[in-house]
Amino acid sequence: MEIEYLKDEGLFRLTAGDTEYVIGIADGKYIGHVYYGRKIKDSQCGYLMRTEEAPFVPSSNLREKCSFADAFPAEYSTWGMGDYRDSCLNVRSSNGFRGCELHYEDYRIFRGKPELPGMPATFCREDDNGSGMTLELICRDEVLGLKVILRYSVFEDSSVVIRSTELVNEGKNPMYLERVLTACLDMDMEEGDLLTLGGSWARERHMVRRPLAFGKQIVSSFRGESGHQDHPFLAVMSRNAGQDQGEVYAMHFVYSGNFLAEAEMSQFGSVRLLMGIHPEGFEWVLNPGDTFVTPEVVCVYSDQGLGKMTHIFHDLYRRHLIRSSYLHKKRPILINNWEATYFNFDTEKLLEIAREAKKRGIEMLVMDDGWFGERNTDEGSLGDWQVNEKKLPGGLNYLVQQVRALGMEFGIWFEPEMVSPDSNLYRTHPDWAVRIPEREPVQSRAQYVLDLSRPEVVDYVYESVARILRSAPISYVKWDMNRQMSDIGSAYLGKEHQGELFHRYILGVYELQERLTREFPELLLENCASGGARFDPGMLYYSPQIWCSDDTDAIERLAIQEGTSLLYPLGTIGAHVSACPNHIVGRVTPFETRGHVAMAGTFGYELDITKLSEEEKQMVEEQVKMVHRFQPLIQEGDYYRIASWQENHRYDSWQVVSKDKTEALFTYIQVLAQPNWHSRKILLKGLNPEVRYQLEQIRQNKTGSGETFTGKVYKGSLLMYGGLLIPRMEGDFTSVMIHLHALKK
Ligand code: DGJ
Repeated sequence: MEIEYLKDEGLFRLTAGDTEYVIGIADGKYIGHVYYGRKIKDSQCGYLMRTEEAPFVPSSNLREKCSFADAFPAEYSTWGMGDYRDSCLNVRSSNGFRGCELHYEDYRIFRGKPELPGMPATFCREDDNGSGMTLELICRDEVLGLKVILRYSVFEDSSVVIRSTELVNEGKNPMYLERVLTACLDMDMEEGDLLTLGGSWARERHMVRRPLAFGKQIVSSFRGESGHQDHPFLAVMSRNAGQDQGEVYAMHFVYSGNFLAEAEMSQFGSVRLLMGIHPEGFEWVLNPGDTFVTPEVVCVYSDQGLGKMTHIFHDLYRRHLIRSSYLHKKRPILINNWEATYFNFDTEKLLEIAREAKKRGIEMLVMDDGWFGERNTDEGSLGDWQVNEKKLPGGLNYLVQQVRALGMEFGIWFEPEMVSPDSNLYRTHPDWAVRIPEREPVQSRAQYVLDLSRPEVVDYVYESVARILRSAPISYVKWDMNRQMSDIGSAYLGKEHQGELFHRYILGVYELQERLTREFPELLLENCASGGARFDPGMLYYSPQIWCSDDTDAIERLAIQEGTSLLYPLGTIGAHVSACPNHIVGRVTPFETRGHVAMAGTFGYELDITKLSEEEKQMVEEQVKMVHRFQPLIQEGDYYRIASWQENHRYDSWQVVSKDKTEALFTYIQVLAQPNWHSRKILLKGLNPEVRYQLEQIRQNKTGSGETFTGKVYKGSLLMYGGLLIPRMEGDFTSVMIHLHALKK
């Protein structure tokens, strides 16, 4: 890790892991992007900005300044002064003009990385490996009196560049930020592919790959949450890029609200990547002396395909983003009553589930939606966070004590950001809901969003949650959020500030979770948003695990978890075994396969265990033992994607290898059985080629591939280059899990 200012060349060079990022100052004032990729360590690279080429820089060719602006590889593009590609910044002055041009003024290089006020951000660790450095490029628009600081941070142990931007009004008049993205990345790429993650409720984060085309390709959200539909991530990559080869440039947004991620191929074949808060519905009033800071963007370059990119993201998030004390701790194996009972439960039913769960080794009972107010359906009571004693006679503390007396921990569900029209809270404070005055507020799941731009609402929400947590020994909170925002209006913000609501709302969410994790540092917090609508790096900063999707069907989960694990470590992915036929798709899959798929996540149960057959209950016991045995490996190891059934339409496979390569866990799912087929050769990954591994098949039922592998010893090179032969199995949705253990020579 290094950040250098090469004075003679007018270049800033950031070295991060095996990558290099170079910035240049053209014509003494324009901050340009020179290079990002493999290390070149040659200070002559400034010519890559093409300032020696027509249309030339403005000081020697003022008459074509516009052409210069429209082709220059900008580090932070601005709107209205000749660059017609999409920009990062658009400012309206107090007299109504739009236009901004930033000139370089100064720089600062220092050890460490500043926090972002009120927002999640990657951070340095205290050990040497976790240290970091930051470059600040200070630039200014003299006419507006606007100072802009472009911030770049690197870490000793990671090949990433983290960007954020700070704007300060140093003028005498207010200005209006109509668009403030965090970063752009200009590069030459005439041909390539674009990778994004997309889907819907119950189909989150499927991989979407398409050829990069002329013009603009956008993924975005202005739903007030990062969303089920698009994900704040994009990557452009060489056509040949796959898991293990090719070049990949990726950006990921550490933010949970509206976002824009865009790839624009220009008339000259260059590509501009943009990422930041979505400008739609956004306007921020920057008064004299005010500062606005953007959320941060993580930039990753990989010269060895998506697999290496994945490792960089996983290690970064585990080392520099997740703060929870649970990061490396074993997570309790939980059972959640949502799919078991929905709203129809009482203390006795929960205890019945808990007793059976305890018998089988499950460690925590989580009580989901429906324990408060008069909530027996999803029609009401959100906001009225008082225990419903009709359902929980004796109160919450009695239930928690009973569960703890069994030797289990207790967790609880909240949806703190919401209010039901049918609630005491809404009847008392209708102006606390997000809505446009004089319009009938738009309902979704019969609920409204609370206006978290309003400090008293944040306080009310915080106290409602904290009061419950103080009232009983509760170890876990599932923090849910079940609707998207619409009819954006705040009775609290004045007329000029309505464009700030979306962002202020998310700042309110962050403040709540900051307060919560401070007051209850030992609490295991799991974020959730109607399944996985807010599975993003911003939420990961507060909670070490996030509920991945309401779709718990093992086969649907393959695509969802493949896309999610492209960026997020397996230990962050909320995954449960549920009952069959599956409640979302009606599919019946073997209990064993459901277990294998949920093991590529935090693992838990989402079913009425009292209704399982004795054989299934015994499988639960075995799965619990497997989780105890393998969770450390799954949580800490390197993840390899081996095959994707989204691509091959037959089977799915992945593997986790310990950092020291002494153990690995391989999973293979035969999605569809194939007639007249022999065994399938699968090449393992990430092993030590010189080491011999002993195989143990982790097997639960009598179907599948039999004990084909247990006891076999093979060299890592053979498993990786020659491959394993997975026998043809009877039946769809069958699976094989193999543990590999390195033998001492
Ligand atoms: C959506 C969540 O994703 C589910 O797991 C469940 O908690 C429901 N909300 C409860 O309303």
